[in-house]
Amino acid sequence: MAILVTGGAGYIGSHTCVELLSAGHEVVVLDNLSNSSEESLKRVKAITGKEVTFYKGDILDREVLNRIFAEEKIESCIHFAGLKAVGESVAKPWEYYNNNIAGTLTLVDVMRQNGCKNIIFSSSATVYGDPAQIPITEECPKGQCTNPYGWTKSMLEQVLSDIQKADPEWNVILLRYFNPIGAHKSGTMGENPNGIPNNLMPYVTQVAVGKLKELGVFGNDYDTPDGTGVRDYIHVVDLALGHVKALKKIEEKAGLCIYNLGTGHGYSVLDIVKNFEEANGLKVPYVIKERRPGDIATCYCDPSKAERELGWKAQYGIREMCEDSWRWQKNNPNGYEE
Ligand code: NAD
Ligand code: UFG
Repeated sequence: MAILVTGGAGYIGSHTCVELLSAGHEVVVLDNLSNSSEESLKRVKAITGKEVTFYKGDILDREVLNRIFAEEKIESCIHFAGLKAVGESVAKPWEYYNNNIAGTLTLVDVMRQNGCKNIIFSSSATVYGDPAQIPITEECPKGQCTNPYGWTKSMLEQVLSDIQKADPEWNVILLRYFNPIGAHKSGTMGENPNGIPNNLMPYVTQVAVGKLKELGVFGNDYDTPDGTGVRDYIHVVDLALGHVKALKKIEEKAGLCIYNLGTGHGYSVLDIVKNFEEANGLKVPYVIKERRPGDIATCYCDPSKAERELGWKAQYGIREMCEDSWRWQKNNPNGYEE
């Protein structure tokens, strides 16, 4: 039996493929490569010595989905495929709702027609909006999202929960990721953003490698210890391991489960700059800029439910996240492109 990994060529998906293969799972990837390169899967093979079965195709395409279910023995799906750029989602809401929501509805429909009712879904801390409590537990009410991307996650959580409620044969695990950074220890796999990065760590590494002049720090007047935004950064390999644990939960026929995946520690933007500089012996010049619309002051989680119920706990600290992000960037200044 195999695991279907949609979006498996992407940043989190490719790291998850490594951990799934290492844990002995068979892996089938479906990805349209809209935000990734097949090269990442070659690196997965180089690390693990094992091959994933790759289908280049779209989750909106029933034909390719049906072909996968006909040709492979899929027991569960880990569903990463989706568009994820917050700013772009504000400019292109239709594209985001269509790709993420219609895509997931299509995937889930083909899954149930083929008797596969196990799904792990990539959700996000963004569903908490401006969180009602810190640290954020899973009981914390969902909030108002500030962009269409966030709404797709919030709505898809509702859709998948309702589907599980109507048909308890479904096992649905919603994983709310906090801020994934870092890269595989080998330095051969990592985050590969198109154009100028939106997220903090890829921006920092591109400044460090000399591709960008300086980091803009979006606001230093938040109600946080140093005034800059505080987030719960989590190493992408820890996140990947969380999915392997979640598959075990599916085997227990767990029904609907929701977990925060974070470390439980908050770091400010300036903490990240300082830790990155110290870990790698580099300077990262920065300037303070205006607040970025839609940002919140503080976001970190209480990850104890995942530890209790999945036996999962993040192992890597901020230093390793900074070292591993840099090793990837330094060895691959142009990402997966030559
Ligand atoms: P990514 O862009 O690197 O990976 C997503 C992959 O999905 C890409 O390889 C892309 O080509 C593919 N894809 C997109 N639309 C597709 C479609 N219609 N059909 C087939 N493939 C498609 O992003 P990532 O950072 O690895 O994120 C993976 C998932 O985790 C996404 O759903 C994202 O929203 C979610 N998430 C990411 C973060 C983060 O900060 N990286 C935080 C919370 C949640
Ligand atoms: N920041 C800067 N300068 C930059 C980029 C970011 O100062 O160039 C700051 C932001 O203002 C924020 C922090 O760094 O305080 C982190 O910003 P990111 O863009 O890296 O991450 P966000 O917390 O804004 O959002 C990320 C993902 C979302 C996801 C959310 C919660 O981009 O998709 O985490 O999981 F929903």
